[in-house]
Amino acid sequence: MWSPGAGGRRRSEPAPFRAGPGRGPLDGQYHAAVAPANDLAELARQAAVCVRCPLAEQRTQVVFGVGAPDADLVFVGEAPGRDEDLQGEPFVGRSGKLLDRLMAEELGIDRSRCYIANVVKCRPPDNRDPRPDEIASCRPYLSAQLELIRPKVVVTLGNFATKLLLQTDQGITKVRGQAYPMGEFHLVPTYHPAAALRSGGVVVAEMRADLVRAKLLLGWGS
Ligand code: URA
Repeated sequence: MWSPGAGGRRRSEPAPFRAGPGRGPLDGQYHAAVAPANDLAELARQAAVCVRCPLAEQRTQVVFGVGAPDADLVFVGEAPGRDEDLQGEPFVGRSGKLLDRLMAEELGIDRSRCYIANVVKCRPPDNRDPRPDEIASCRPYLSAQLELIRPKVVVTLGNFATKLLLQTDQGITKVRGQAYPMGEFHLVPTYHPAAALRSGGVVVAEMRADLVRAKLLLGWGS
């Protein structure tokens, strides 16, 4: 359970966060929705001051997402790392360079032609995995992003995005290799680029195949 920090907090001081799973008057219910937003810019303004979970404490800024607001293709990663936290944009570090390269080589696009977001919008300290309560708190932003963008294809990058959006406990290795109709869009699970950087050849080749799968679903070529 998260606690307010080393050294504690005097009783008279305000609580540093208004909401988070299991705390506050709604006792975990409040992360079910964000205030309705008319567009991504409005949603981003809400997110920029978000204090729904402890990650707000250490972030430099909220890394909301980047790209075309009406993109047919959305990539969803895990969480911002150090570079993203500093620059305010998803996938600008080493993983992002690989993602940009694969996007260019397999889809013939750059990031302005798609939208890129993460499951969690704030950097977990020391790049640790995002925790279930942080994912639950942040999830309404991703849901709202997808509702506003209405993409045809969502490519999930790695286990966190795949498990969340596909509602599965199965790992990426098991579920990748096919597309899943999700009502409004098709979900194409693939590896996180960091896994490809670690593992190389076969994983990169499988990511390429997954992007080709997305391309065909988008009707972007043979
Ligand atoms: N890894 C992610 O999952 N997202 C980023 O934005 C950067 C690295």
